Order: sequence, then structure tokens, then C-alpha cells
Amino acid sequence: MVRVGILGATGYTGVELIRILSNHEDVQIKYLSSQNFNGKKFEDVYPSLKGFCKVELQELNIDDIVENCDVVFTALPSGYAMNIAEKLCNCGVKLIDLGADFRFDDFKTYKKWYETDKDDYGSVSRVYGLPEIHRQEIKNAMVVGNPGCYPTSVILGLAPALKGEIIENHIIIDSKSGVSGAGHSPKLGNMYAECNESIKPYNVAKHRHIPEIEQELSNLNCEDTKVIFTPHLTPMTRGILSTMYCKLKKDISIESLHEIYSEFYKDEYFVKVLDIGEYPSTKSVYGSNFCHIGLEIDKRTGTLIVMSSIDNLVKGASGQAVQNMNIMFGIDEDKGLKMVPVFP
Ligand SMILES: NC(=O)c1ccc[n+]([C@@H]2O[C@H](COP(=O)([O-])OP(=O)(O)OC[C@H]3O[C@@H](n4cnc5c(N)ncnc54)[C@H](OP(=O)(O)O)[C@@H]3O)[C@@H](O)[C@H]2O)c1
Repeated sequence: MVRVGILGATGYTGVELIRILSNHEDVQIKYLSSQNFNGKKFEDVYPSLKGFCKVELQELNIDDIVENCDVVFTALPSGYAMNIAEKLCNCGVKLIDLGADFRFDDFKTYKKWYETDKDDYGSVSRVYGLPEIHRQEIKNAMVVGNPGCYPTSVILGLAPALKGEIIENHIIIDSKSGVSGAGHSPKLGNMYAECNESIKPYNVAKHRHIPEIEQELSNLNCEDTKVIFTPHLTPMTRGILSTMYCKLKKDISIESLHEIYSEFYKDEYFVKVLDIGEYPSTKSVYGSNFCHIGLEIDKRTGTLIVMSSIDNLVKGASGQAVQNMNIMFGIDEDKGLKMVPVFP
């Protein structure tokens, strides 16, 4: 039985972790931290978990965590996990951070895009937690940086084309996300009257997921790869749809392209390459750990168009974090994750 702790348990990714882990037979939720709800039972904060989680929320206490947990999920704003990672590792407790603290191969990149007073990872060695690409490294990891939601949809969408040397090194990415991507802390822009019946771009050409996407695409492409990334906020609760436009290096039929993608993901339970002419939607993966990929070739302009959809809270966060935990503890990778998408 794996003893689990969740820090920042009352946030959207925290409650999603508890929803998923409540149906995971090899896990026991032992520790939940909260600043604002400590002393309350979790099910009293989130009625959707009534009867599933009676664990009491507590102030964050590292000694209690080390005593009671084998693995900790940090569902906190970026910058916190880094303060406790060394202590946890030294005490043999594994860490899966849903924030950005451990996503970067080069700490300087993290320091350039995220506030931090640190200059390096110290004694902590970390792995980028995208199982379909980094499974072998994740197996032996003590610390996993769980990928961001946009990067997950983009990297899974482009990996076969980059590994197949099919596309040029100039990629335009247009992504749309549901409001839960911003977390549950109240912000004017996320209020119903502000975002309902509206779609708007934000952080154009300066979103913090750009360096993460470029890191992983460059690793796959074996050369420095730059992207033009435009995120959009859409009036839905959950879901991410990313559309990538890439110049083709050579003429290729949609049948051959589809074959390359299907072969690349043939052993991947959570990635589904849709039939030729079929396009993904956020609704088709809602509440599940699946990523749906659609392909199209614009022959007139020699452009590959890749479309990729995920649920930002599941494959984009908590589901992927549980997938990583399963790999780190040698548990069947899909355990607790066979949720069927919710439709309609
Ligand atoms: N939402 C997504 O789709 C998504 C996807 C991928 C990655 N992520 C990342 O996952 C992390 C959590 O995101 P989220 O959406 O769950 O955020 P959230 O809904 O805002 O929840 C964060 C939780 O952290 C606790 N917290 C906030 N500030 C804190 C502080 N200063 N000290 C200690 N605890 C604090 C709060 O719990 P209490 O008030 O109970 O203390 C809050 O419930 C973030 O790093 C985010 O970037 C989110």
C-alpha cells in the first residue's frame, strides 16, 4: 500500500487527485495540507467527495509528512515544492510536483521565467514526468516534475512528427483552455460574466509554458526548436485543444503520416490517434486521462496540421501525476486511471 500526501489539497488539481486516488486500490491517502481549511474533513470542503475522503486537512508540517507518507504530490503554486524536495528525498519520500519547479533540464531556464531566489536544484535530481516520452527515467526517479497542461497536449501531438523528421523547425501553436486551468483562486478575468460567451488570447508570445515546450521539442528534434505559442481562454470549465501548424520537410500522404503516428503510439493506452478525417474535441476526453490526436495535411501549402485534446485537470495534471506515481512504484500504469470520458 502506497501512503500518499497531497499539499495544497483544496485546489482544483488537489481535489482531482483525491477523486482519482479514491478509486485506486494500492493507495492510502494519509496527509492533506491546507492553509485555509485546516481542521476540516476534506469531504466537508468538497461535497462531491462525500463518503470518499474523510481525511482531516492540516497545516503543512514536513516532519508529519515524512513520518506518514511514501510519496507527496505538491498541488501548490510554483516555488513551494523546491523548498521541501531535499528534505523529502533525504528521508526517502518521493515527490511529484504539479507546479513547474522540476520541469526544466537547465535551472537557468526556470529562473528566467519563474520567480525564485535559488540558483540551482541543490542535491535534487529530477525527471520530466511525461510517461509516453520519459518512462524509463521516471521508473527510478525520486522527484518528478509533472508537465504543464498545454505542453502535454503539444508535445504528445508533435513527438511522432519530430522523431520522424517530417516537419521543419518552425512551429505555430494555437491552444484553447477551459477556465479551471487558472486554478480556484478568484481572479476578475475568470469570473463568469467576464469569460462566458467570450474567447480571448492571453500572454501572447510570453506564456510560461513556452520554454517547457521548446525544451522537450528540442530534445525530440535533436536541435534547438522554437515555437510561436498563443494560448486562449475559452468559456468552458475543463479541456485543452491545441492546434499545431508545421511546414512539411517532404511530400507525404496522410495515410503514411497516420501510419507513423499509429506506430509511435501503438503501445500507449492513453494516447489515441483518431482515424483519418476525424478531429479531436475537448468533450471527447472530458474527465479522462486520454489524449486524442487528429491529423490533416494542407497540400496546397505543404503544411501539417496536428490537433490534440486533453482534460487539463486529468492528462494535463492530476491523472498524469497518478500515472507517474504508478510508474515510480512499479504499479500497473493505468491503475486508478481507466476513467471513461464523460459525454455529453
Ligand atoms: N489547474 C490546472 O489545469 C493545472 C494544470 C497543470 C498544472 N497545474 C499546476 O498545479 C498547481 C496547482 O494548481 P491548481 O489549479 O490546483 O491551483 P489552485 O486551485 O489555485 O490550488 C492551489 C492550492 O494551493 C494552496 N495554496 C495557495 N497558495 C498557497 C500558499 N501561498 N502557501 C500554501 N498553500 C497555498 C491553496 O490551498 P489552501 O487555500 O487550502 O491552502 C490552494 O487550494 C499549480 O502550480 C499549477 O500551475 C495546474
